[in-house]
Amino acid sequence: MYLTFGVTLIDITTKIAGIRLKNPTILASGIMDEDAGSMKRIIECDAGAIVTKSIGLNAREGYPNPTVIELDYGILNAMGLPNPGIKQYQQEIVQLKNSKTPVIGSIYGAITKEFIELAKKMEDYSVTALELNLSCPHAKSYGLELGCDPKLVQEITSSVKDQVSIPVFVKISPNVTNIVKIAKAAEDGNADAIVAINTVKGMKIDLELGKPILSNKIGGYSGMAIKPIGIRCVYDIAKNINIPIIGVGGITTGEDALEYIMAGASAVQIGSGVYYRGLDIFKKVCVEIGQLMKAYGYKNLPEIIGVAHK
Ligand SMILES: Cc1cc2nc3c(=O)[nH]c(=O)nc-3n(C[C@H](O)[C@H](O)[C@H](O)COP(=O)(O)O)c2cc1C
Repeated sequence: MYLTFGVTLIDITTKIAGIRLKNPTILASGIMDEDAGSMKRIIECDAGAIVTKSIGLNAREGYPNPTVIELDYGILNAMGLPNPGIKQYQQEIVQLKNSKTPVIGSIYGAITKEFIELAKKMEDYSVTALELNLSCPHAKSYGLELGCDPKLVQEITSSVKDQVSIPVFVKISPNVTNIVKIAKAAEDGNADAIVAINTVKGMKIDLELGKPILSNKIGGYSGMAIKPIGIRCVYDIAKNINIPIIGVGGITTGEDALEYIMAGASAVQIGSGVYYRGLDIFKKVCVEIGQLMKAYGYKNLPEIIGVAHK
């Protein structure tokens, strides 16, 4: 996608694992992506790609309310991965079959076998790529998430890669001691790209009740407050791996997106930002990226990816 500013042409096209995106903004998983209608609306708002809600094998209702709290600088949520299950989700995703905008199918499971089954189904549904959400508690060690164990991350990634022919992205969590180790494990499992980061664990206490507000007590923090954490993660990962990175966490403006790109991201995802700036956020961020590129003398995105490392 070219943006024109007077006589200056700015190219904001990017590429991830051979997939061409007309611009680097992608809808993050979990926001307006449970049904075909809302995903189509985001596509019409010019997102470069969209990620579906994370889908599991069976339908899940999620946790009881309260599941979302708006805080001063972000959003705390513990939805409990509500989703209709992979069979039911087919009727949503097939409606996007002819979309020119890439659709990335997000899946979660508790064991490798589940990821394989889900990955094959998503591929049958004609998604452009897969995103493995590794934040599900591991069936064998309750409470510990799959994404905390590098061995499991490599095993799940390589097992899925062996079974599908579409690109596989691995979404990782900042709630680990060493995120680079996890990203490397995904790279060793032949992942096509890393998506960083998922939400940061947090909590909010109601003073009057003397209790955590969320029904699940602990939630995932997203939005503006987590941007510096995401930037640091992307920067560290980019220093140590050779596959593309998709940056996510706290992006609401073109300036935020460009920071991620300079840290090493080839594209960015926007989640909570949709609540703050509305559906037009994708268009707005693209224009802002273009304006900043013009101001700093850049003509295309490859010139900018990872410049903060030089
Ligand atoms: C309400 C809500 C639901 C989410 N659901 C999912 C999900 O199903 N799968 C997933 O991988 N991430 C999920 N996320 C995490 C986002 O995709 C993203 O990684 C995170 O919110 C950080 O980006 P942001 O600051 O732009 O929101 C969810 C986030 C929110 C706020």
